[in-house]
Amino acid sequence: MTYATITGWGKCLPPASLTNDDLGTIMDTSDEWIYPRTGIKARRVSHVSTQALATLAARRALACAGLDAAALDGIILATATPGTLVPNGASAVQQALGAHKAAVFDLNAACTGFVYALSVATSLVQTGMMQRVLVIGAERLTQLLDWAKRDTAVLFGDGAGAVIIEASKQESGLIASKLGCDSEAREILHVPNFGTDRVRFADIDGLFTFNFEGQEIFKRAVRGMGEATGTVLAQAGIAPEQVDLIVPHQANVRIIETLAKRMNAPMEKVMVNIEQYGNTSAATVPIALCEALEQGRVKPNSYLLTAAFGAGLTWGAALIKWGDRVTPIANCDEVLPPCEQSALELIAHAVQGCQQARPADA
Ligand SMILES: CC(C)(COP(=O)(O)OP(=O)(O)OC[C@H]1O[C@@H](n2cnc3c(N)ncnc32)[C@H](O)[C@@H]1OP(=O)(O)O)[C@@H](O)C(=O)NCCC(=O)NCCS
Repeated sequence: MTYATITGWGKCLPPASLTNDDLGTIMDTSDEWIYPRTGIKARRVSHVSTQALATLAARRALACAGLDAAALDGIILATATPGTLVPNGASAVQQALGAHKAAVFDLNAACTGFVYALSVATSLVQTGMMQRVLVIGAERLTQLLDWAKRDTAVLFGDGAGAVIIEASKQESGLIASKLGCDSEAREILHVPNFGTDRVRFADIDGLFTFNFEGQEIFKRAVRGMGEATGTVLAQAGIAPEQVDLIVPHQANVRIIETLAKRMNAPMEKVMVNIEQYGNTSAATVPIALCEALEQGRVKPNSYLLTAAFGAGLTWGAALIKWGDRVTPIANCDEVLPPCEQSALELIAHAVQGCQQARPADA
């Protein structure tokens, strides 16, 4: 039996941080409202493209695996916010890395994108079609937000995380997964005018509406992730208490706590880093995984459980058996180009656009 073991991991967080207090200067909100309801204190705003974030996370993952980009057979970029749709974002990553041999594609399952991509990559390795695949979750959601809508603008941020998976004979990598979609509710998390459905040359060009029914998403997220985690544990024949660490999608700390409670898992067994980054969609799981490794919370041969949900409403869960190595083979020293502006300065133009477009839209 061939397994697809995770041999490298890396993340890239842009430096400009937008705090809840910063948001309070541009909309009617506050840290007192946001933090207790979501667990979020700040989020990052990127000064570079989605593909630039993805590329640096990928370079760090490659160094960690001790692998040359030329050895990659595939690159999957999970994103709902690619810099361009044509060509895909993964081709920009291939070009920047010089991974000439790799087949490349973007995968859009919104916040569940990384879990979907990891499943797909694992299948490609297990069927023998590929040996080494780079799987990235990267988002630049701050480019999509309607800064005049406080219910959504406070939740999201930018970032990227990546892993390398390689064929192995040792039982490791993703050993069970369950993916699905609750499309009956696809309208409750919806950016209707981002894509070819949008009316070209419309007056509100540049403003993306963000349909979002927070409480309904919350309920369906808990149900979707709860059922998916139950299914993968049953598939793998692993009891909930055998899971060493849960690395969930970071959308809301209360959703994470509810999931942990359903599994009877103490919060010490759950990786939570939403406080500083908010919801970075497809990037939350690989970023959280990297930080769990950095903090020494992933032990050799341990069981990790991940679960996510997102627009669609896609949902998924996966059980990962970690390999022997929990430290990088090498580190990559490269950094992003310097950012000369504050987070508020980076979004100022978009904030003004949203505020001006709103009255006309009403
Ligand atoms: C978004 C979420 C935090 C909202 O919490 P909530 O307790 O459901 O809050 P509500 O939407 O009911 O809003 C309660 C009040 O707060 C107000 N409010 C909403 N956003 C606010 C903000 N950022 N600051 C201050 N007040 C806000 C609302 O206008 C409403 O006021 P009203 O009662 O006068 O009408 C919560 O529903 C949630 O996390 N849902 C999951 C969504 C998610 O994570 N999606 C990611 C998908 S991947």
